[in-house]
Amino acid sequence: MDIDIVSVFPEYFDVLNLSLLGKAQEHGLLSIQAHDLRTWTHDVHHSVDDTPIGGGAGMVMKPEVWSQCLDALLGIPDDVQTPKRVAPADNDAEAAAAVSDAASTQQCQTLDPAPGTTIIFPNPSAPLFTQQDAQELSRQHRLIFGCGRYEGYDARIPAHYAAAGYDFREYSIGDYVLNGGEVAVSVMVEAITRLLPGFMGNPDSIVEESYTGSQALLEYKQYTRPAEWRGQTVPDILRSGDHAKVDRFRRDEALVRTANIRPDLIEQLRIADLDKADRKL
Ligand code: ADE
Repeated sequence: MDIDIVSVFPEYFDVLNLSLLGKAQEHGLLSIQAHDLRTWTHDVHHSVDDTPIGGGAGMVMKPEVWSQCLDALLGIPDDVQTPKRVAPADNDAEAAAAVSDAASTQQCQTLDPAPGTTIIFPNPSAPLFTQQDAQELSRQHRLIFGCGRYEGYDARIPAHYAAAGYDFREYSIGDYVLNGGEVAVSVMVEAITRLLPGFMGNPDSIVEESYTGSQALLEYKQYTRPAEWRGQTVPDILRSGDHAKVDRFRRDEALVRTANIRPDLIEQLRIADLDKADRKL
């Protein structure tokens, strides 16, 4: 898998060369390249943002800088421009419609979306990124992440690339606001890449994890030696050697834990996901 990350702080991503992610890159399983968005600026100040149209606090990232960057990464020739005549729209639907019109004109006709490529911009106002999204994205060949800063990026950027046929997604990593997209991209890159076949030394370690599979429950509690520590003992069943009983104990614990901490996950379970003993709980 090839991953490109664009940010005004590309050095932030040096951390992705450490640990398992670093090893996966050394073994050729994955390549991660961080790019400086300012490479695609042409003014003396290398500015990437401007004041919001309509007023308001902060700055908004400029569409031209992002389109030059994304077009370059996607291999779109210079003479195929992003739509230039799209007027600032009052709402998302208007912006999408305007770009869609532009896409159907000559301006966008020669864009050739690359299959297996997804462009992802983190955004606190987007749908929540889930384990299911990580699984789906781990099957792509190439991911291009763009990190927003300040008050975000011009809304016509996602609208343009989506209208031109690219798989362009925006995700939030949680109901809180960060200073920029860098942390969110690191989170998504780690969640996605650890699912690549061959990434984990022991592939079983991702099978029983929380949020995985049709029976997405929080994971049961784990213990290691010593069996007694500071007055607390490991539950006897886990030391019984009876695998069926251990499995049942763990499943019950996962169900109770999920019901207490994340009742929303229990509500999503289908009746077919529950066995007879589950239903007794
Ligand atoms: N940028 C700022 N906050 C964010 C969040 N919670 N998720 C994704 N991107 C963000």
